[in-house]
Amino acid sequence: MSYAGVLQRYRSFLDIPAHTSLVTLLEGDTPLIPLPRLVEELGSGFSLYAKFEGLNPTGSFKDRGMTIAIGEAAGRGVKSVICASTGNTAASAAAYAARAGLRCIVLVPRGKIAVGKLAGAVAYGAQVIQIDGSFDEALTLVVDITQRHPIALVNSLNIYRLEGQKTAAFEICDTLGKAPDLLCLPVGNAGNITAYWMGFRQYDDLKKTGLPRILGVQAAGAAPLVLGHPVEKPETIATAIRIGKPARGEQALEAAEQSGGKIIAVSDDEILAMQRALAREGLWVEPASAAGLAGLVAEIRAGKLDPRGLRVVVICTGHGLKDPDIITSSMTKPIVLSPDAGALEEVILE
Ligand code: F0G
Repeated sequence: MSYAGVLQRYRSFLDIPAHTSLVTLLEGDTPLIPLPRLVEELGSGFSLYAKFEGLNPTGSFKDRGMTIAIGEAAGRGVKSVICASTGNTAASAAAYAARAGLRCIVLVPRGKIAVGKLAGAVAYGAQVIQIDGSFDEALTLVVDITQRHPIALVNSLNIYRLEGQKTAAFEICDTLGKAPDLLCLPVGNAGNITAYWMGFRQYDDLKKTGLPRILGVQAAGAAPLVLGHPVEKPETIATAIRIGKPARGEQALEAAEQSGGKIIAVSDDEILAMQRALAREGLWVEPASAAGLAGLVAEIRAGKLDPRGLRVVVICTGHGLKDPDIITSSMTKPIVLSPDAGALEEVILE
């Protein structure tokens, strides 16, 4: 069977209205890539995979949820959709709205979103509005607007986003034959961790695939769920998860607790180090997407987790191409040569 996107593949497992129309870019079906070098560095004796969600059509996991949320909105005749975003939701909403022929409005925090995400939203034809404030303030605005106007909210407060996103848990179980022992992922607005937990529980009920422990990871400068209170001015290099008041914070805490896992914070340096470690395995992810791995490594190095015998999956939520500035702003400038073989030999031969 040729691949048909998450709605067609998993429709019978999704709790969605009959009017939901098919608006797909063939999202999902992302690979589970082994990370053998990292396993060796961390002491061997376990298996480690990255689910590379950056390979979705707009470069992030958001597409799984957006195909359903936009399909549902289009199917009930809504003409406009809106979201607040740190960037990936904006690009994804813009693409799926374009596909469905809907108007899309996105609110982003000014100066705090990666260039590839902003460009994506513009390229797909969304109306991009920069807010002189945080993601959290932008989210409050869009929630309010959608309560007063016939515009569909496509943030993960929209339950159909979670219905789509939970398919990533199904795919992991389908690929591995059962749930992993441990799942590590970044946490921002906390929709994704909530969706994974929904997905794993549903599959376990139906197919006895077992349940993973879940390790949710926030950036230390934006860690309301670790601190136990909202963060007024969140700051982190991982702009995708620069969020101080997660909309689904309670559910994220429940998911971690019920699964026997937890939510921890890691520093920006730890995140960037794991972005480089993933690149050494051939995966270029945006900084937020390295947070799950950074959390795993922090736990192992602190002696809080013994990975031996475990099957571990880290979720790499978005592609590195979204945020090239992080790399180019700190790189040593490439050498410039005249087009001359002698000069080239001098530089590349020992
Ligand atoms: N990783 C990436 C690359 C993200 O873009 C996000 C969230 C997350 C992780 C966290 O997921 O919010 O479900 O806990 N990005 C949202 C956005 C907020 O607007 O693109 P979450």
